[in-house]
Amino acid sequence: MSLMTRAEHALSAHFEQAAGTGAPSRLVAAMRHAVFSGGARIRPQLCMAVATACGDNAPQLTNAAAVSLELMHCASLVHDDMPAFDNADTRRGLPTVHKAFGEPLALLAGDGLIVMAYRVLLQAGVQQPERLVALMDNLTTGVGLPHGIVAGQAWECETSADLGQYQRAKTGALFVSATCAGALSCGVAPEPWAFLGQYLGEAYQVADDIRDVIADAATLGKPAGQDTLHARPSSAQALGLTGAIAHFDHLIDQAAASIPACFHRDMLCQLVQHEAERLVPKAMCEGYFKAHPKVAAAPMNAPH
Ligand code: IPE
Ligand code: IPE
Ligand code: MG
Ligand code: MG
Repeated sequence: MSLMTRAEHALSAHFEQAAGTGAPSRLVAAMRHAVFSGGARIRPQLCMAVATACGDNAPQLTNAAAVSLELMHCASLVHDDMPAFDNADTRRGLPTVHKAFGEPLALLAGDGLIVMAYRVLLQAGVQQPERLVALMDNLTTGVGLPHGIVAGQAWECETSADLGQYQRAKTGALFVSATCAGALSCGVAPEPWAFLGQYLGEAYQVADDIRDVIADAATLGKPAGQDTLHARPSSAQALGLTGAIAHFDHLIDQAAASIPACFHRDMLCQLVQHEAERLVPKAMCEGYFKAHPKVAAAPMNAPH
């Protein structure tokens, strides 16, 4: 079974079980819309891939940990798209949750998904309390204060922000949680796996910044040009487009080089390279530079 299939199966099974019966139907529909709308599922796949490399000796716990990460991610997207944040009308090629269900239900759907993430993990981990506590702690690190998603999003409310710190918190932290969760669910020390999450997570946000400039809304499945519109700190703006692409390539190299020596190292390297080409396809960059020769010739800045 591919990691993608494993992630989708686990998400469906856990979502249905955790939603239970009798909850307000429009709330459940809004939560379903947020989760089952065609995401890349990179965070749960990363968790499962690391667990495979660590022996995958508790696959049900790994699945629950992977699902909890994706539920948190989906919740963050629902809230991020709301008018108080990025005010986006589309996500994954569909109307955003607040566009489809209204703002009150979008707010509640995000809240519901956050609580569901903890519930899924809790229910799967009661038989292995030591691993459960470590996984819970790991999840809160990726989402909360001082350096998780919530803190990352809050840098947008400060008068100034360090670009790297902003990106590592709003996106990188949950990637670190994903690689570490793969190890923790197997009872293995997570530290050697944190670097892969750190580099790949930062690369992911740099890629998102690049794509915001060079891709169109149809390709992205969400509005393009948002970073300029909202004056968000962005790699493309800070480093120049060529600088941002060079920084992305370097982060991808660092991610691949950080993978600990193990039996499944090749599989993990392939996952990283596959993501790199999916996120910033060489043909997409070449096409953009051909149409915008001045951008191609502009000087690049070095990352801080
Ligand atoms: C989008 O994340 C938001 C960022 C953190 C860059 P993804 O690119 O993983 O989005 P989905 O889950 O595939 O929709
Ligand atoms: C990442 O920020 C999203 C979250 C941390 C929720 P962006 O605002 O750049 O992501 P997109 O472009 O909306 O997916
Ligand atoms: Mg945002
Ligand atoms: Mg956004």
